[in-house]
Amino acid sequence: MGRNRKRNVNPFAQRKRDNKQFQPYDKRSEPYHDIVRENAEFEKYYKHQKVCPEDEYNHFITALKKDLPATFRLTAFKGESKRLLEIVKEKLFVDYLSGVKDLNEENDEELKPKNLEWYPNELAWQLQLSRKNIRRSEKLFKLHNFLISETKSGNISRQEGVSMIPPLLLDVKSHHKCLDLCAAPGSKTAQIIEALHSDLSVKGIPKGYVIANDVDNKRCYMLVHQSKRLNSPCYLITNCDAARFPNLYGNNQKVVKFDRILADVPCSGDGTMRKNADIWLKWKPANSLGLHGLQYRIAKRAAEMLEIGGRMVYSTCSINPIENEAVICRLIREARGTLEVIDASTHVKGLKYNQGMTYWEVATKDLKFYSKYEDVPAEFSTLIHKEMFPPPSSEIAKYNLQHCIRVLPHQNNTGAFFIAVLEKKQLLPWEKQIDEDAIETKARTAAENNGDGETIENPRKKKKLANYGHREDPFIFFKADEEIYETFKKFYQLSDDFDPTCLLTRCATGKKKNVYLCSPEVREILRNNENNIKLINSGVKTFSRCDNKNMECQFRLVYEGFHNIDHLVGDERRINVERDDLIKMLNNLNPLEPPLIADMSESVQKQHEKVTSGSCIIHYNEGDDLELRFVGWRGNKTLRAYIDVNDSIHMLRLVGADLSKYEVNKFEEKAKRELVKTDEGDEEMAQDDDQEQNELHIDEDN
Ligand SMILES: C[S@@+](CC[C@H](N)C(=O)[O-])C[C@H]1O[C@@H](n2cnc3c(N)ncnc32)[C@H](O)[C@@H]1O
Repeated sequence: MGRNRKRNVNPFAQRKRDNKQFQPYDKRSEPYHDIVRENAEFEKYYKHQKVCPEDEYNHFITALKKDLPATFRLTAFKGESKRLLEIVKEKLFVDYLSGVKDLNEENDEELKPKNLEWYPNELAWQLQLSRKNIRRSEKLFKLHNFLISETKSGNISRQEGVSMIPPLLLDVKSHHKCLDLCAAPGSKTAQIIEALHSDLSVKGIPKGYVIANDVDNKRCYMLVHQSKRLNSPCYLITNCDAARFPNLYGNNQKVVKFDRILADVPCSGDGTMRKNADIWLKWKPANSLGLHGLQYRIAKRAAEMLEIGGRMVYSTCSINPIENEAVICRLIREARGTLEVIDASTHVKGLKYNQGMTYWEVATKDLKFYSKYEDVPAEFSTLIHKEMFPPPSSEIAKYNLQHCIRVLPHQNNTGAFFIAVLEKKQLLPWEKQIDEDAIETKARTAAENNGDGETIENPRKKKKLANYGHREDPFIFFKADEEIYETFKKFYQLSDDFDPTCLLTRCATGKKKNVYLCSPEVREILRNNENNIKLINSGVKTFSRCDNKNMECQFRLVYEGFHNIDHLVGDERRINVERDDLIKMLNNLNPLEPPLIADMSESVQKQHEKVTSGSCIIHYNEGDDLELRFVGWRGNKTLRAYIDVNDSIHMLRLVGADLSKYEVNKFEEKAKRELVKTDEGDEEMAQDDDQEQNELHIDEDN
């Protein structure tokens, strides 16, 4: 009989194996456990509130329990978006349909990607699968790769369909001063930035800008990530409580009033249950009661900062009237005719929705409903306030709540959302006092100036800013006669129209590494409000230090920012390439082995001779239909693209080049990795066993 090896197991080897078994828990590898999508209180609450007609209620609840289909939209202002749209429709969706057919029994029509008809220019699409299903299906790996890579390069945004509505209703034009008060993670900010840039008749940098703010310091960096993708000099990220957003000062120390304000306020989020199934477990009637006050304060502050004639959008991803109509009604009532809810539905023609509610009740934690504040027991007085109730029916019509938009999940196969569009007709009744305070501040500021109207340092006394997160580097602008700018100007033959004072760095001492560009309007906000609000990020990287001895200027152009100054760069730093040259350059991933100029077209070889070494701009033109420009590097015998791989993939896709080398099938990769792991594991096991055997022999020998 063989020996019982268990008794004689080597404890060290055994511990090693045990440790392997208890590797840190990897959530992603666990099969998806469906949360039970039921909550009796939720269903009872909304049935009572009559959020939709009774005969639709079951459809509403049924839709809310289904996974949310994935949606994405193409970046509106990119000239190439027309070409990308063709590729999406003619190639990507065809591949998608053949992949999805094997996954699903449903008929072809139901599987077809749907264009969100209310979104302009066919730019927004809904796939008939959830993001999770796309991520987990090998048949759809190319679609998943497309979504990731085009998102990174800023050419598409993966955004929930209903979340695209508020920025559309904001109707942003290129000259608008915009404020996005609760902006993180930033999908709506991205849409606002796109809108600022989407008027292709505007040459150069638009005059408008967006200040994107969030109270959560960590989430502000999600906002940085989102906004950066769009390479715009027209945004600024701040970190403060929206309900106490300070007055900002622009030129001449005037308080800035905004043309457009988005208040996409924090909410209970029950409209996102299709995506965030855990809300089914957490939902309680009291959640909304605790949020109403903050939502009202943010909306009120937004109204104060709005220009007369300006437009603000209040939105939530909550279905609850306490967080929606009750907030709007309270604000409009207090504004006494100076604010008006308007009908902006022409911006979303084709969208199915319900009008805002004009009657609702307020419920206690135990789901007792009250129609009048006077009937609410005293014990609930800290949670339920008079302002949460609708005004008497004789009065309600004047608040125009019917113009609010409530989108429910069964109407367009989306999440739920609430949007109200408000216009400011006059100063708010309490705003006069605020303005007087501002005038007083201005007068005080003037007294602190050096007499000729120029401020010596920052105009306002440094006030203690709330301590949100870590300290940011300063924003240091170039002076009009900044020394290094002269080398930029000479090397890139920059036109005199270029304003060097729009360039900035983030390091006070030492060598400047990166130079960022922001619009003159954003520069004024940055300069005048440094001590007024916590500034997180602004400016698009446009030049970067490259201590290359072959280049006369120590700064190369950076792809992110060069588009904004492209028209100001001289012709001596430009090279036109042909299709094969382009593909060669874009396919080169190894900077140590750049494409040889000898392998390129004759025309490129000739131009190469005329351009001195260093950073340059590459042009590719396919006629009216497609024009590509990017940053390159002219070496002695080489010419290469100086761009990120995702930008390369995007351009290769646009010109119809072969992308197979970039199509990583993560499922195959994972299978290969696991095979290697198993082999290594077997080997290790064998080694452990050998070692054990040796040790056993030693034991025996002893
Ligand atoms: C519904 S999310 C905003 C989503 C965002 N607009 C978008 O489209 O990506 C609400 C945001 O409000 C922020 N927030 C919560 N309270 C706030 C406050 N008092 N001031 C400013 N932001 C606040 C949260 O951190 C959260 O990022």
